[in-house]
Amino acid sequence: MDKYYKIQRIEKTKGAIDISNGAKLVSFNDSMGDVWEIEKTTENDLHPTMKPVALVDRAINNSTKTNEAVLDLFIGSGTTLISCEKNGRRFFGCELEPKYIQICIQRYFNFTRRYDIKCINREVDINAIIEDMPEDFTSQ
Ligand SMILES: C[S@@+](CC[C@H](N)C(=O)[O-])C[C@H]1O[C@@H](n2cnc3c(N)ncnc32)[C@H](O)[C@@H]1O
Repeated sequence: MDKYYKIQRIEKTKGAIDISNGAKLVSFNDSMGDVWEIEKTTENDLHPTMKPVALVDRAINNSTKTNEAVLDLFIGSGTTLISCEKNGRRFFGCELEPKYIQICIQRYFNFTRRYDIKCINREVDINAIIEDMPEDFTSQ
């Protein structure tokens, strides 16, 4: 029981899933069922509520197409960022805590070996973060 994340769909409320231009913000694919069983990540010391990338993969692949944009206003350790990279989606996000901004940039760099990230907060020095990265830092 404890080994899995279980995502239960609560209710399909029309107002909650439609945005003004009629596009669907969330598109539930009924064949996916109400309960998703995904193994918990083995490494979850980067963030106290870190989710498995496979969990986010499933939501992203259900609700977006290749090259579409995904917005995560609570990035945390960057699980959605990694999933977007894996699945060919463009990612935009916000994170309040500098330590998590650092972790998600390190995680992205470790996964892609690229640092094509733009930080709007000019106090964030991406190069310094990457240079600071521990040798054994892993991405998943
Ligand atoms: C539940 S965690 C997200 C965990 C993420 N899904 C993952 O797998 O790592 C929520 C994050 O939102 C951030 N947060 C809280 N309030 C915020 C705000 N007003 N703006 C941006 N980020 C915020 C917190 O610092 C925290 O890292």
